[in-house]
Amino acid sequence: MAMAAATSSSLFIKTSLFRSFSFTTKPNSFYPRASSSMERSEITEEEKDDQKKKIFVAGATGSTGKRIVEQLLAKGFAVKAGVRDVDKAKLAFPGNNPHLQFVKADVTDGSTKLADAISDDSDAVICATGFRRSWDLTAPWKVDNLGTVNLVEACRKQNVNRFILISSILVNGAAMGQLFNPAYIFLNVFGLTLVAKLQAEQHIRKSGINYTIIRPGGLKNDPAKGNIVMEPEDTLYEGSISRDQVAEVAVEALLHQESYYKVVEIVARTEAPKRSFEDLFSSIKQK
Ligand SMILES: NC(=O)c1ccc[n+]([C@@H]2O[C@H](COP(=O)([O-])OP(=O)(O)OC[C@H]3O[C@@H](n4cnc5c(N)ncnc54)[C@H](OP(=O)(O)O)[C@@H]3O)[C@@H](O)[C@H]2O)c1
Repeated sequence: MAMAAATSSSLFIKTSLFRSFSFTTKPNSFYPRASSSMERSEITEEEKDDQKKKIFVAGATGSTGKRIVEQLLAKGFAVKAGVRDVDKAKLAFPGNNPHLQFVKADVTDGSTKLADAISDDSDAVICATGFRRSWDLTAPWKVDNLGTVNLVEACRKQNVNRFILISSILVNGAAMGQLFNPAYIFLNVFGLTLVAKLQAEQHIRKSGINYTIIRPGGLKNDPAKGNIVMEPEDTLYEGSISRDQVAEVAVEALLHQESYYKVVEIVARTEAPKRSFEDLFSSIKQK
């Protein structure tokens, strides 16, 4: 029987994916389209590729975005990397992985162009963009607020109903009594970066899309040094976390329904106990 043959780890991962992905508005897109192959007792490589869920990653060339792409591929997803410069992006991901495609996507270009880039074959979007430092003080607003809003609107145009955002702790610092937190001041004084991110978050939450907003503490390129601590929104005001762990949380959010419609704040602490992602996401209440 086909399912008996499907004991390889990659198929096991895929079976888990089908079970976990129930958020789509595209009715059959998370189930194997190759039912006839089940009866034939074997699944061809081509059919396996056809069954992979495709995730659009905006900001795929960034320090966190690149890790998200790598972890998605390792978990058996196909990836459409939305990037500003396709040639540069190809250099960042050598090896011609057949499950990784590149598409030009500048989030400031508007939702219509982004919808074309996302197309009708993306099952979810992960947004890991962040403005690049420049003399343009409006860049954070254009990228971290309006750009993210454009992405959400592009998803709505394409009926993509799953959106994961990499945001930041302290975005709501003023309401948390952290108005004078040096990080809150520093990140807002040049371009209102945190305010821009908060505005984008509010748009996502009102949009009706199934979201997980991930707010990490300060990002580190080093490998993980402690275990992940996950707290509800507007709780954490200090701490840091490896970009590897942030990428892991973003990918695991796709695999766990407990992450749906939630805002989670994350840092890493050496003294924290190791917890499963199911446990971590379950501990946060939906608001
Ligand atoms: N740094 C921290 O400590 C910290 C803490 C908490 C949260 N965060 C947030 O976490 C996220 C990821 O941070 P990171 O440091 O890993 O990012 P990063 O390395 O700065 O990468 C930013 C990504 O955004 C892309 N991007 C910039 N403008 C764009 C546009 N107009 N259209 C499309 N893509 C655009 C960049 O593309 P190019 O390669 O083409 O420039 C790049 O891929 C950001 O939102 C950041 O604000 C950062």
